[in-house]
Amino acid sequence: MSCKITFQPLGKRCIINENQTVLDIVRKNGIRLNNACGGNGTCGKCKIQIKCKMPSSLKNEDYKYMNPITKIEKKFLTKMEIINNYRLACFTKIYEDAIVYIPDQDNEMENIILDRGRNLKIDINSSIKTYDLIIKEPSLEDYRDDKQRLVDAICKVEKSISNLKIDYSLLKNLSSILRRNHWKVNVVVRNNDEIIDVRNILKSRIYGVSIDLGTTTLAASLIDLKNGKLITRKSKMNSQIQYGDDVISRISYCMLNTNGLDELSNIIREDINTLIYQMAKENNIDINDIFEIVIVGNTVMEHIFLKLNPEYIGKAPFVSGIREFIEVKLRQCDIVASKFGYLCFLPIEAGFVGADNVAVLLAEKPYLKNEHSLLIDIGTNGEIVFGNKDKLYSTSCATGPALEGAQLSFGMRATNGAIEKVKINDITLEPTYEVIGKVLPKGICGSGIIDVIAELVRLKIILKDGSFNSNIKSDRLIKVKNKVKEYVLVWKEESGIDRDIVIKQKDIRAVQLAKGALYAGAKLLIKHSKIKRIDKIILAGAFGSYIDKKNALYIGLFPTCPLDKIEVVGNAASEGAKLALLNVIEREEAKNIAKKVEFVEVANERDFQKEFFEGMNFPYGISIN
Ligand code: FES
Repeated sequence: MSCKITFQPLGKRCIINENQTVLDIVRKNGIRLNNACGGNGTCGKCKIQIKCKMPSSLKNEDYKYMNPITKIEKKFLTKMEIINNYRLACFTKIYEDAIVYIPDQDNEMENIILDRGRNLKIDINSSIKTYDLIIKEPSLEDYRDDKQRLVDAICKVEKSISNLKIDYSLLKNLSSILRRNHWKVNVVVRNNDEIIDVRNILKSRIYGVSIDLGTTTLAASLIDLKNGKLITRKSKMNSQIQYGDDVISRISYCMLNTNGLDELSNIIREDINTLIYQMAKENNIDINDIFEIVIVGNTVMEHIFLKLNPEYIGKAPFVSGIREFIEVKLRQCDIVASKFGYLCFLPIEAGFVGADNVAVLLAEKPYLKNEHSLLIDIGTNGEIVFGNKDKLYSTSCATGPALEGAQLSFGMRATNGAIEKVKINDITLEPTYEVIGKVLPKGICGSGIIDVIAELVRLKIILKDGSFNSNIKSDRLIKVKNKVKEYVLVWKEESGIDRDIVIKQKDIRAVQLAKGALYAGAKLLIKHSKIKRIDKIILAGAFGSYIDKKNALYIGLFPTCPLDKIEVVGNAASEGAKLALLNVIEREEAKNIAKKVEFVEVANERDFQKEFFEGMNFPYGISIN
């Protein structure tokens, strides 16, 4: 038996079978819904509201249009929400036509993705070159074949080329293209060794796209390969988010579902196609003039995109299927651009530390400097590099999504309604906060959570071990059996979600786990290098760009360093991808760096537990300058 459901406010109609959950349908139809735990019933984020013909007098339990509400759902839903037919999508089955309302559908998220770095100056030396040619026509005296005729004409104008191969599908049409264009053509050559297009002489434009493929977001730039000019940039949420927030959930989905890998790969390919198509269309650019795409992403994202089994990256000893630089024809990956063009992935360092980290190194070049830099790129996964021109060490740490605002009781991504800055009055303990967008607060994002925890630590409302100090009295501190359990940041009346926005003990613990992992990773990497000092900390990525550096140091997110030695560089991975797209020497450099960096599995280090637990504590009373 199947029935129709309409998702609102999207207005999307879908069919649901009696043995499917609403989350199954959401995934199948590419509808965005927060399901941070990947449907395991542990995050409580997949709230939906069922709006159908149900008489208001009936409670969910009595209602036969859907399965009865479960005990777990009751744990995550307020009484009011239950009365108003809220459910969790991963538990809900619907048996009659209904409307499913997704309350947090928030398209504005896509506008706030950090897609730019430092706009580095780049010497243009792309792998793609074009030549306008007038080719000698064949005659009874000149029997050379068409391909040779073309190669000879190129070699005549480009002395560094002696021979060239040609794309087979292009070769199939070469004779007619040459004759149709009366032997006057524009030829596109890649890497001085392959002819990848022969077109009308009036065409001469060549474009490329650089993409930072993150677990949560994608940022793409469309670039003129002749002069390096940025035509436009666009970003969007990674639609795989339907399958869980982190790379482990994505690996599990691939492993547990017969076509899981194909499904997730096709989703991300479609996302990339959407961005390319939109960028080209809005700028009147023919997508067939896009000849090269450079993608940087973490190891799991790269494997899933390429349909390589990601299973073993997630299991000790965390080995990837491939580490080297990869290039593959665009048409083999179903990407909408020139069918003769190429897609390149920068090399992977090791384990989870992927091409995105290589791109960060390419942009920041710590391998050319004397000073010892600690590079921290905090995303859903934390990646750390330490060293200088003599030696670089890298590691990854499972920071999880807590620092990005996800998986906290009132956590949300940095979009409209998110509290992004917090101060707490020393005397009254009343908070003041700033909210993104001109709306009432709906939750708290990563930078907000760092602020509020730093303030609670500063005022000794949170103790060194992370527990609430039950000796402090305030209306804002809610006690259960004389123990403080939560701090009320926003009262229900002032919030945009009709309930108090609070910081719970378990939220503090989640941040402690994340910071413990990051701190231990950095400390052990430095210890491993036997270098005693940090000259500079470089914060890359969105999280690093928006946090208050002082508060991050105050809660001990990373080892101490003078404030003026902490540099924020934005989306350095995007910047590195652009360098590799526009300059083949940089691309070669990326291959060398990936081999040169020594990957350290910090979890195997003898002191890991000690540093991790130390990192979980709050360093009370440190002075920061
Ligand atoms: Fe449903 Fe997490 S509880 S996805």
